[in-house]
Amino acid sequence: MPPRKIIIDTDPGQDDAVAILLALASPEEIDVIAITCVAGNVPLDLTSKNARIICELAGKGNVPVFAGSDRPMGRALVTAEHVHGKTGLDGPDLPDPLMPLEDGHAVDYIIEQLRAHAPGTVTLCPIGPLTNIATALQKAPDIAERIAEIVLMGGAYFEVGNITPTAEFNIYVDPEAADIVFKSGVPIVVMPLDVTHKALVTRARNDAFRAIGTPVGTAVAQMTDFFERFDKEKYGSDGAPLHDPCVTAYLIRPDLFTGRHINVEIETQSALTLGMTVADWWGVTERAPNALFIGDLDADGFFSLLTERLARL
Ligand code: RIB
Ligand code: CA
Repeated sequence: MPPRKIIIDTDPGQDDAVAILLALASPEEIDVIAITCVAGNVPLDLTSKNARIICELAGKGNVPVFAGSDRPMGRALVTAEHVHGKTGLDGPDLPDPLMPLEDGHAVDYIIEQLRAHAPGTVTLCPIGPLTNIATALQKAPDIAERIAEIVLMGGAYFEVGNITPTAEFNIYVDPEAADIVFKSGVPIVVMPLDVTHKALVTRARNDAFRAIGTPVGTAVAQMTDFFERFDKEKYGSDGAPLHDPCVTAYLIRPDLFTGRHINVEIETQSALTLGMTVADWWGVTERAPNALFIGDLDADGFFSLLTERLARL
């Protein structure tokens, strides 16, 4: 089977970095057409710099990287330096990128690529706020039926919120964008906090990253060492939750994940629950299913895949 063509839309972020590294280490399964950047964890100038740092860390300085939206569609940007540090990639000391950003806006690039490739052959993998994806859908409605699938990290049901009591960060930053994506009719796979909070970098798993003994293995160990503080303090977690790598791992080994095809709608009005993913997990409404909402994973299988692949870079 030929590798799946994907565009990763991202706001690096240490967990984004690991998701990108996993994709770049898996050319048999994944063909990364490009990386498009969005404001989220940190402002756009940093996310678009960090994406290039990660490509060069992987020795893949030839992957096109585009800058996209520098703020949500209709509200002020909320960032997460309290989780990811000032640079967004705190932990390892990595050199500034030599590779340039591509010319042009990420949204125009996404539209152009979807129109250039045969329908159903390009998968979008948003692992940050959905601003770029929603803007592309709004600017070019014809692309919706050309997208093979959207596999995204965002939302929560049983885990509820990580940035407010009810909302997960990626959805909360741009709930209007999320609403457009979830109503687009495109097949969607959702990796919510319900599953990503089960993908924890325990000490043993962090030691396994470090034991790879390469610049990539060491950098990932340092990233997750830094990144775990927030969740350890807030949830008493046994390590950093690898949110975004669940997206790229799903593309390689979907059998590691289980979920339900349900209706998911986005709260865009209430100040109290803004950005909540209202997931009809128990099927109590007549609302039509619009997403495969993942609830669980084989965590040991996930980490052995991740460690094996990172060792390839
Ligand atoms: O809530 C977790 C998500 O928000 C992850 O994508 C993380 O990188 C941040 O963007
Ligand atoms: Ca992210």
